[in-house]
Amino acid sequence: MMGMKFEGREEKHRITVMAIFLAGACFLTYYCYVVLGTGRVFTHFFYIPIILASLWWKRKGLGVAVFLAALLIFSSIFFRAEVVAANDYLRAIMFIVIAFVVATLSEQIAKAEESLRESEEKYRNLYESSKDGIAFSDMQGNLLDANQAFLDMLGYTIEEYKKLTYQQLTPKKWHKMEADILKNHTMARGYSDEYKKEYIKKDGTVFPATIRIWLIKDKQGKPIGMWAIIRDIAERKQVEEKIKQYQQILEVSERASWHFSHRILSIREEEKKILSTILHDEVGTLAVALSSSLNAIEEEIKDNNLKAALRTIVKSKTVLRKAIQRLKKTAADLRPPDLDIVGLPVALREYLSNVTKQLDLKINFSMEIDEKKVPNNVAIVLYRIVQEALNNVVKHANARNMKVRLYSLGNKIELIIRDDGKGFDTGIISGGTTIHMGIRGMREMAESVDGRFHIKSAPGKGTDIHVTLPVIEEHKLWV
Ligand SMILES: Nc1ncnc2c1ncn2[C@@H]1O[C@H](COP(=O)(O)OP(=O)(O)OP(=O)(O)O)[C@@H](O)[C@H]1O
Ligand SMILES: [Mg+2]
Repeated sequence: MMGMKFEGREEKHRITVMAIFLAGACFLTYYCYVVLGTGRVFTHFFYIPIILASLWWKRKGLGVAVFLAALLIFSSIFFRAEVVAANDYLRAIMFIVIAFVVATLSEQIAKAEESLRESEEKYRNLYESSKDGIAFSDMQGNLLDANQAFLDMLGYTIEEYKKLTYQQLTPKKWHKMEADILKNHTMARGYSDEYKKEYIKKDGTVFPATIRIWLIKDKQGKPIGMWAIIRDIAERKQVEEKIKQYQQILEVSERASWHFSHRILSIREEEKKILSTILHDEVGTLAVALSSSLNAIEEEIKDNNLKAALRTIVKSKTVLRKAIQRLKKTAADLRPPDLDIVGLPVALREYLSNVTKQLDLKINFSMEIDEKKVPNNVAIVLYRIVQEALNNVVKHANARNMKVRLYSLGNKIELIIRDDGKGFDTGIISGGTTIHMGIRGMREMAESVDGRFHIKSAPGKGTDIHVTLPVIEEHKLWV
């Protein structure tokens, strides 16, 4: 709007000026012919409005030249009534030619100006709307200009920015590297590769960025300044960091799963070893015993000593019964408990009574928990710990009494197993040997469900095991 108003006013001035010039030309013609009575008009003056009109109105301005040419011809005919001097025609033609040349040249200049303005506007738009920062500096590093994106990254106004050097915007640790890049790349080739650095914002915080620099040279090829494109990569860095973290977590869990599968394999191997030892010890010994008993019976029958044969048969039956009981217990130990079906109390009670049937051991079992609140994985851990503790009592303790107590305390389950056997020096289990896996296994099982395991014993003092397991209802495990 402002531009249009201004142009309208300018146009009025031009028309006024032109009218004055044309009036001047008419007066001059009159003055030369009538007042001075000369046969010639001072036409040099005419060139001023002719050139001005062509400059201002281009081809339309030719109208002024045509008007003045006509004025010259007609007035020379009218006032002199003689033969029009040939040079008046020539001068009239010159008016038109000069007007045409000036109009054409000024049209071309206007076109060139327009395309220059357009391309300048295009680049300015690009410069201003770019999301990347664009900055200019002289060869000393004094900052000359920057687009809005770079000013926004830094938090400076353009006035503040122009008072700084690019070294002031860069943390000290990057100065040497940047000076090297300037010397070896930018100055040598005219541009640098993209590189990473940091910038200091107005508020003193630092952000990471990538930058690429180009030299600006004068006509002689002498460097007179630099310009650069800068990209803020804080967000990209954060994403990269996150990816790195996840990769590390992945590596750790891969290692853990490798250890875990390794451990499972070694446990399987141990179990196989136990099974083969049991088969060898129990079944093998039994087979040998039975075969020698059968031989003895055969001999006794041959000798017709039936009484002795009967005695041997009774003895063999006892051996066989004991062996069957031991095999049953082993099978019960190996079989996973049907906790889902029968529940923890029933499974435990059944297991303990099965074992005690064959032994001279009294077990006092009590359970005061709401088994519905015990997640399955916790129930299995409790069952296995009781099983392993009982194994130890049977194997090592030579105890007469054993107490198994299971109760809730807040949102925890406490398990206490106590025997009045011979006890042992707990120092022997801290060595981490692979021979004694039972106690270590109990501790690992308790810890696998975030519980704690504690064993207390001394020679002649019996053994106490105390396990505390947190109860998190299963649906909460996923929260
Ligand atoms: N209730 C107990 N009474 C007496 N000694 C015990 C008792 N429990 C464990 N011990 C002693 O602690 C040792 C370690 O027991 P642990 O259960 O870890 O291994 P282990 O029973 O020898 O072998 P396994 O790996 O077959 O269980 C036993 O060898 C035994 O000497
Ligand atoms: Mg054991």
